[in-house]
Amino acid sequence: MRIIEAKDYADMSKKASEIISAKVLLTPNCVLGLATGSTPIGTYEHLVKKYQSGDLDFSNVRSINLDEYKGLSGDHDQSYRYFMDTHFFNHVNIDKANTFVPNGLAKDSDTACAEYNALIESFHGADLQLLGIGGNGHIGFNEPSDEFKKGVHCVKLAESTIKANARFFESEEDVPKYAYTMGIGNIMSAKTILLLASGTAKAQAVYDSFFGAITPKVQGSILQLHPDVIVIADQDALSIAKEKGVLV
Ligand code: F6R
Repeated sequence: MRIIEAKDYADMSKKASEIISAKVLLTPNCVLGLATGSTPIGTYEHLVKKYQSGDLDFSNVRSINLDEYKGLSGDHDQSYRYFMDTHFFNHVNIDKANTFVPNGLAKDSDTACAEYNALIESFHGADLQLLGIGGNGHIGFNEPSDEFKKGVHCVKLAESTIKANARFFESEEDVPKYAYTMGIGNIMSAKTILLLASGTAKAQAVYDSFFGAITPKVQGSILQLHPDVIVIADQDALSIAKEKGVLV
């Protein structure tokens, strides 16, 4: 695991965009595993700028997103499909038919999970999986648990996740209670993982995930077993690791 220290959110975003750009340049038909949330917004902004200045071509890129709220349609402004369209896909030359996000309105959850799982397997996992991390250490929507779930599944969101995401909705009651998410096996099948973390609210999760025991109580800790993980964390997100002296 490589941990790259960034000064702040802006620096983290720029560095992350450089790594994703390199992947797209080297492998124009790569499969990008993508994340939503506040953390990657700056990264997507840089990628859009690089495309607009003619430095990147997404025409052969395929993408698979980590997760989607159950019950939200793709045109709901808090759905992750809408997030991806408005922050990234609408502004670059990726073919929307090659962008995949779980269908929040699927009639049958089990079938929807099995189909999304089969899709990820047909791609042999992502070439590069972008991840954020929850304050509770979740990756995708794999919440603290007694087990690591392998495949795509429907999950009941943790209270802390609902509270954390309430900032995007009119009220906490409006936050969907369930979501579809890639499982830990799907995430671990990515060839390279790029995890971003910014701010003191992530400092404990960063410390526990990368310097603590490997446990499903902190789902991000499984990444210690992946052969190619790059963490870009800003100084605030690394503050506890530094206090504890595990990072110089
Ligand atoms: C998003 C996702 C989540 C977020 C995490 C952090 O697709 O899977 O795991 O990465 O909740 O969210 P932010 O970036 O909003 O702090």
